Formats: sequence, structure tokens, C-alpha cells
Amino acid sequence: MKTKKIFTCQNCGYQSPRWLGRCPDCNIWNSFVEEDYSPPAKKTKERVSLYKDEPVLLKEVEVKQRLRIKTDIEELDRVLGGGLVEGSVILLGGDPGIGKSTLSLQISNSLAKAGYKVLYISGEESVAQTRLRADRLIQEKIKDNLYIVSQTDLSLILEYIKKIAPNMVIIDSIQVIFEPSVSSSPGSVSQVRECAGILAQLAKSNGIVMFIIGHVTKEGSIAGPKVLEHIVDTVLYFEGDRFALYRILRAVKNRFGSTNEIGVFEMTSFGLKEVKNPSALFLSERPKGISGSTVSSILEGTRPILVEIQALVSKSSFGYARRRTQGFDYNRLGLILAVLEKRLGLVLENEDVFVNVVGGIKIEDPACDLAVAMAISSAYKDRFLIKDGLILGEIGLGGEVRSIIQPTIRIKEAEKLGFKIAILPKNNLRNLDYKGKIELIGVDNLKETFSILFS
Ligand SMILES: Nc1ncnc2c1ncn2[C@@H]1O[C@H](COP(=O)(O)OP(=O)(O)OP(=O)(O)O)[C@@H](O)[C@H]1O
Ligand SMILES: [Mg+2]
Repeated sequence: MKTKKIFTCQNCGYQSPRWLGRCPDCNIWNSFVEEDYSPPAKKTKERVSLYKDEPVLLKEVEVKQRLRIKTDIEELDRVLGGGLVEGSVILLGGDPGIGKSTLSLQISNSLAKAGYKVLYISGEESVAQTRLRADRLIQEKIKDNLYIVSQTDLSLILEYIKKIAPNMVIIDSIQVIFEPSVSSSPGSVSQVRECAGILAQLAKSNGIVMFIIGHVTKEGSIAGPKVLEHIVDTVLYFEGDRFALYRILRAVKNRFGSTNEIGVFEMTSFGLKEVKNPSALFLSERPKGISGSTVSSILEGTRPILVEIQALVSKSSFGYARRRTQGFDYNRLGLILAVLEKRLGLVLENEDVFVNVVGGIKIEDPACDLAVAMAISSAYKDRFLIKDGLILGEIGLGGEVRSIIQPTIRIKEAEKLGFKIAILPKNNLRNLDYKGKIELIGVDNLKETFSILFS
């Protein structure tokens, strides 16, 4: 029988009988790869048999309390919503070298220590390589329950899982695993989808925690992202600069918890170390007595994190003034500059303005607006602002300082780090429930803030 060919978009899985330059579904250029076409008949049959139950009344459905397995890595447990859920599938994505294998091995060890059986499928590295890493990461004796195999053939992997019957399986990584019955090459959308689908079903029916590692493409998404993200229960992204010490773990999707939480880790030669107090880390190298530096607070889920914002304003030597940001939205900076010019009369048209959020953190929280504006003003005037002061507030187009959410926990976090003063919107101050040591100053607009800080 002549095998049919089909072209599949490697980004979203869109299929077409002809090659296309641009995917009509996800608009990515040059993403089509020729694959053998396999009719989905067999799969449909399996699916039908999986959901053979008759409809029942929702109120009569019995809920078996799902077990949460604590990994003992607090930062991770929080991101997961309280631990790993039995029978769940977790996708861990991130840039090459960011520490995906390291974290997975640390989780494996934690679970093995707690008495669970773990099978680590290393498709990319040899067993010896992983052992070397384990020797570096795991100081005590490696436990008995931790199995490892270097294998990429899915049919064999399934056999191993059957034989060992583990509580958790780690697939490192999904892009190198292949199902022999699918003819396209490993890493292609068809392979990734097929393998992840089979593994997910296995996890659900046997109550195994399936931890799948996925590579991130140049564009920053997991190869075949849409297809994969639907199959799994939780999607975690490992972010951060490969050259910076710390890494941030973020849940992008979570069927068993909130997606707002982040976990902060530091990469050391003994593996990833939890950073229990990220604010202290991000403020640790704060210069003292220098203009253009302010401290504000972002909220990540339930956690306030203090961040340092730095600005530099210098005479433009080219015909046009440059604006550069790192960790802060470029358009938002444009808006703040316009408000500063209009409402405070700063002349910035011939000045280069650079804004940098220290430590590679990205801020989206509007509560940092006022701190950014004051960092720029401080740099412009070349005057040092307040010592140990926290600045909170959103800026409106009229130069007014608008209230922010959850001011109290942000102020408490600053108090923990020894801050003495907090500038915050008057509207927040009116009904603030805070009785601590920090002196609170309420402000209504930019002008008022400016005169308080530069008096
Ligand atoms: N001896 C060491 N001391 C300190 N850090 C190390 C050491 N060896 C490796 N690392 C860190 O571990 C990182 C590699 O981690 P890991 O192999 O877990 O990444 P990965 O995300 O699995 O990468 P890949 O995508 O290539 O599989 C390196 O970038 C480096 O920062
Ligand atoms: Mg790896």
C-alpha cells in the first residue's frame, strides 16, 4: 500500500495535503514538515472504550480524595498548588541548560527518600552521565527506589513502567522519545503528540505522576506547544537568564492549583537551592546613596517580592533620544515619560532614558509605576532619593497616583527587610490595616510625591 504523505505544522499541529510557507492557523512561517499520514481509526476505537461509562448525576459522583505527594521542595510544592497529584501529568519546559534535568533529578531523589518508587527515563544522557550528576546533587547515599534507564523507544519504556510499577516517571525529554508505529521523526508534532497522549493515559489509569520535560523553541514555546499543553494537567516553565544564578519556576496552566505562584531557585554546584526570601536576594546588591534607584514591590500570587528599579538619564549624543528598558514594558515607559514631562515639567526630549529592573525580574504589576517615575526623576535630577524607602502606586494619565491591590502584605515584606518608610497612594492609606514600624506617607499625585522626595 502506498503510504500517504501529509504536511504538519511543527508549531501547532495543523495539517495540510500541500506544503505551505505560512501556517494558516498559528501564522508561523516555514513550520511545515512532511510526515507519513496515519489514519486515526485505531485511536478512535481506544478513546471510545476509555469513556464507556453511562452518564450519571454530577451530585452522585463519588470523589476519591486524590493524594498529594509533597516533594519536600517547598518552592516547587507551592507552584504545584500543594504537591504532586497522583495520576497527574506535568510538563516542565525551559531553555537548554536552565536546569530541567537537575530539578527533575532532585524531585526524583526527594520522592525516593519518602519511599516512593521513581523511574527516570533519560533519553538525552547516558545512565553514567546521570549518575555523575546525581553524585554532585545528592550528598547522602542514593536511595533504593530510584531507577534509571536510558531509552527513547516508547514501546520499551511502557514495558519498563509495567515491570517496575513506579509512583512517578520522569521523561527527559519528550522530544527524543518516539513511538515506532508513527513513522515521523522524534520531536515532530505527530511523535510528540502521540507519545505524550499514550503516557498521559497511562498516568491517569495507573495513578502514576508523569513528569514530562519539554524543550523550548527559539520563539520561547515548547515544541508542539498547543498539542502538548492540552494533554497535560500542569505546565511549568523554568525561566531566568542562564548566566544569572537564580531561576524562576512558573505555572502557566494548572488543573490542581493557582497559576499565580512562582518558585525561586538558585543554581549552585549542589543543584538548585530554594530561595526562601527572594526580596532579600533581589535587593542584596543595591547601591547605597546613588541616584536613580528605587524599590517597589510586585505580587506573585500570594507573595510580595521587593524589586529594585534603576534608571539612567543622560544627554543624548545622537540626533534622537533613546529609550531602553529591561524587565519593564517599553510602552508603559513611554507613557510614564509623557506624564513626567506634562505634569512635572521634566524636559526629557533630548535625554536617553534607560530603565532596568535588577536581577532579570520582569515586572507587570502597575504598582511599580510610581517607583519607575521616581527613579527616572532621581536620575534626571541626579539626586539620591530616600534611604530604605518603598514606593508604591499606579500612575494615571493625569499624573494622579492610583490605589493598588494588597498594600499591607507589601509593606509587611518591606518591614521584614528593615525598610523605614513607605510611600503609597492616599486611597490605600485611608483604609489600611497596618500597625507596624514603617512610617507611611500617602500621596495623591506625582507632583506631591516629587515635592516630598525632593524637598
Ligand atoms: N559543576 C557544576 N557547578 C555548578 N553548576 C553546574 C555544574 N554543572 C552544571 N551546572 C549547571 O547546571 C546547568 C545544566 O543543568 P541541566 O542539565 O539540568 O539543564 P537542562 O535544562 O536539563 O539542559 P538540557 O536542555 O540541555 O537538557 C548548567 O547550565 C549549569 O548552570
Ligand atoms: Mg537535560
